[in-house]
Amino acid sequence: MSVDVLAKIAQQVSVCEKCPLHHSRKNAVPGQGPADAAIMFIGEGPGFHENEQGLPFVGAAGKFLDDLLAKIGMQRSDVFITNVVKCRPPGNRDPLAQELEACGDYLERQIQTINPQVIVTLGRFSMARFLPDAKISTVHGQSMQVRGRLVVPMYHPAAALHQGSLRPVIERDFSQLPGLIAKAADAPELHDAPRDDRQDPKQLSFF
Ligand code: URA
Ligand code: SF4
Repeated sequence: MSVDVLAKIAQQVSVCEKCPLHHSRKNAVPGQGPADAAIMFIGEGPGFHENEQGLPFVGAAGKFLDDLLAKIGMQRSDVFITNVVKCRPPGNRDPLAQELEACGDYLERQIQTINPQVIVTLGRFSMARFLPDAKISTVHGQSMQVRGRLVVPMYHPAAALHQGSLRPVIERDFSQLPGLIAKAADAPELHDAPRDDRQDPKQLSFF
């Protein structure tokens, strides 16, 4: 059962010592949401509140994410939310390449298990996992087929909170999500589960 696999991953994350971030964590944050979610949001890493509670996006950025979801008639319980690193980088600094690499396998297993039709990346570290050469200012809100899966890069909600001009941009990008989800559900090439995201890393096309 996917639920059991996700629980196993969460358990492994909670005791993981694969990178130095485990030294400063209070709680690891494996992710949260239904095991059969059609849509998965991938952020950067836990911040202060996430580290306190062991849950993703529970601070200011999380509140904004809830608002963005509500505007398109969705709620948190409809989606799976996780991050590219599962432990808080000290002082909320950017995750290091070594940490992203060490933590990547957990995310990969979550993607394989949930097998979402749509992955929304929040911020550049999450985007870089799927679209290593893309610029967020160019590709935000555009859906791309990456290794048989629909990936939609978005600005990080925290960036939109800090930089007011990005707010209408992320709101507009979110407003297109229901249409993209419906389109992905109708696309036979996006239905061949399970997909191995590690295969054919160069395959990329606009959807
Ligand atoms: N920012 C993130 O990228 N992830 C969280 O879980 C919270 C804030
Ligand atoms: Fe392990 Fe990831 Fe936490 Fe590093 S960030 S200790 S790899 S769970």
